[in-house]
Amino acid sequence: MLKKLALSTLVLASSVFASNEVNVYSVRHYDTDKKLFKMFEEKTGIKVNVVKAKGGALIKRLKSEGKNSPADVLITVDAGGLYKAKSADLLQSIDSDYLTKNVPSNLRDRDNQWFALTKRSRVTLFKMGSDTDKQLSTYEDLADPKFKGKIVVRSSSNVYNQSLLAAMIEHHGEEYATKWAKGVVANMARTPKGNDRAQIKAVANGIGSVAIANTYYVGKMVNNKDVSQRDAIAKMKIFFPKFKNGGTHINVSGAGVTKYSPNKGNAVKFIEFLAGPDAQALFAEGNYEYPVLNGVKSSDLVSSWGTFNEDKISMNALGENNSKAVKIFDIAGWK
Ligand SMILES: [Fe+2]
Repeated sequence: MLKKLALSTLVLASSVFASNEVNVYSVRHYDTDKKLFKMFEEKTGIKVNVVKAKGGALIKRLKSEGKNSPADVLITVDAGGLYKAKSADLLQSIDSDYLTKNVPSNLRDRDNQWFALTKRSRVTLFKMGSDTDKQLSTYEDLADPKFKGKIVVRSSSNVYNQSLLAAMIEHHGEEYATKWAKGVVANMARTPKGNDRAQIKAVANGIGSVAIANTYYVGKMVNNKDVSQRDAIAKMKIFFPKFKNGGTHINVSGAGVTKYSPNKGNAVKFIEFLAGPDAQALFAEGNYEYPVLNGVKSSDLVSSWGTFNEDKISMNALGENNSKAVKIFDIAGWK
């Protein structure tokens, strides 16, 4: 009896003293996330501590912290980043019926070490009134000499471009992808500079006539305090290209539990919450991303851009082909 009592006291004591927090290392740089984290805190009583930095910096930090890392969750803005974290042995498998049931298999790690939370598609933008969009239907077309001097796109050090090329490699192999990258470089209106929004602004202001950017930036520019962003996007229209034998390129923002997570239970709860209906609706409304959870609608603005068929290749391929993509960009002279 005494022994039993002692054991139950011990259990009680450990649950009282268990730290009720989750430590998140996040590459996401969007205001919506602050609201989401607050929603999670209010719902569960678990405090969310966030460290924000670029993907490379967070991976470096996790490596150097090793077993002493306070991090529980890593969130990235690209499947390539999640793959890098997994390859560096910084994540662990997540055992969650909810996540495996609700996140489609092409949008999660093959060993369940990470799960997509949102989708974004990488599209082309043209100036209203221009008919250049009528000459384009596929990503492959971007390398066609008819677009000489017309394409503006950010640098190859950007992971969104690396993932687009990784998808091209997956569809057509390295040889074709190299030819394609060289063709796009030959068609550039200028040496790559600036972020996705800068490409859209450039075309709006008459530099080049095809901009490549992620869809949610369009939403962010439409609803922006900065009048120069609103003015630029008002002049533009979106076209969703597809791969010749596939659909429109999709990338994901996603999350994994870190290998040495001190609050693993909270970490899984947190990721399940982010993949749940309330959080998915906020990702869609607040950050113009495409939800991964079936049944959650895109925002009205995003829906107004039209529907498209998603490319169905596995997000694992974006990571697996990343180093090949980086090498090909180098060969092609894509700055
Ligand atoms: Fe972004």
